[in-house]
Amino acid sequence: MELVSEETIDELIQAQTHIWNHTFYFIKSMSLKCAVQLGIPDAINSHGKPMTLSELVAALPVHPKKTHHLYRLMRLLVHSGFFALQKVADNHCQEGYLLTPASRLLLKDNPFLDSRPFIAMVLDPTVTEPYNCMSTWFQNDDPSAFVTTFGEPIWEYASHEAGVNHLINKTMASDSSLIGRAVVVKCKEVFQGLNSLVDVAGGTGNMAKAIADAFPDLKCTVLDLPHVVADLQGSKNLNFLGGDMFKAVPPADAILLKWTLHDWPDEECVKILKNCKEAITRNGKQQGGKVIIIDMVMGNQTWDSDDDKITEAQLLFDMEMMVCIIGKERNEKEWAKLFFDAGFSNYKINPVLGPRALIEVYP
Ligand SMILES: C[S@@+](CC[C@H](N)C(=O)[O-])C[C@H]1O[C@@H](n2cnc3c(N)ncnc32)[C@H](O)[C@@H]1O
Repeated sequence: MELVSEETIDELIQAQTHIWNHTFYFIKSMSLKCAVQLGIPDAINSHGKPMTLSELVAALPVHPKKTHHLYRLMRLLVHSGFFALQKVADNHCQEGYLLTPASRLLLKDNPFLDSRPFIAMVLDPTVTEPYNCMSTWFQNDDPSAFVTTFGEPIWEYASHEAGVNHLINKTMASDSSLIGRAVVVKCKEVFQGLNSLVDVAGGTGNMAKAIADAFPDLKCTVLDLPHVVADLQGSKNLNFLGGDMFKAVPPADAILLKWTLHDWPDEECVKILKNCKEAITRNGKQQGGKVIIIDMVMGNQTWDSDDDKITEAQLLFDMEMMVCIIGKERNEKEWAKLFFDAGFSNYKINPVLGPRALIEVYP
């Protein structure tokens, strides 16, 4: 047997641990999904103080024989930052579970800040299955691993699979509730002075609703595919329009594109952006007409402590766009090329939304 040094052995064991952790990362995702399905965040929230393991078991639809198994699930989720432990006030020998900022986004009674649909969609077998076909896809000329798996792109698949359509729309709606609120607080000035705005591929309209509520004099229109907006009701300054952004975008002072361009390859993005420019020009606003994009700008991190988490979120989202959609996350140079290829003259990046940024693009 070949002898190796102690240093080499340590390195080999570290490398093996690295492989274990990366291979097992799906267990973190599935444990989080399980916690949401069991209603653990809601049970701890309703308890109103640190909740012991036995109190948690009693409050959940969990078989009493599974008490120790639940402890092990909670131990991982505490380690992952979804729950915290604190001494129980009337019994200092016992510890109880508390929510953290991340698990507060997993509560049922939080209709505006609910990340449960994102977990349900990303971990749905329809969305995870293409990852099993990724290496096959690398060897063929299909546009995405989703197409290799299901024979058609995700938007077409969603148009006849009501469950998937519902999951996508719910995910977008919950994200837009959060980002809609963030944008009207952090980027108010971007919308001031505008009379009309079209949210292109605006889904079920939560983003436009947040903007329409904050700016009652701004006339907002949501454009999306007919099956997405079919049954949606507008309000005083918000209306819905079924259509195709590749064919035409209705005229407006400003066009919003949130989480839309990252779904598409460069050529399609330039087509969409040209249609947006045409819509602003047709509307004839002399000054201040613009396209407002909310998407990631890779490598544009602004604060140190979260840089690693933000970079990881961007890299993972980029893979999701590649495997399940046909798009990609872009760095500033790639964005600038799209803008100039579509005939725009300038742009400004506001890196105020964590992994995402708000980009203003001027004709
Ligand atoms: C990732 S979702 C973003 C939805 C919304 N902007 C948001 O962030 O909540 C992409 C949206 O593009 C829409 N879409 C796809 N193809 C489209 C097209 N050709 N014309 C208009 N909308 C389209 C989808 O129906 C979906 O609602």
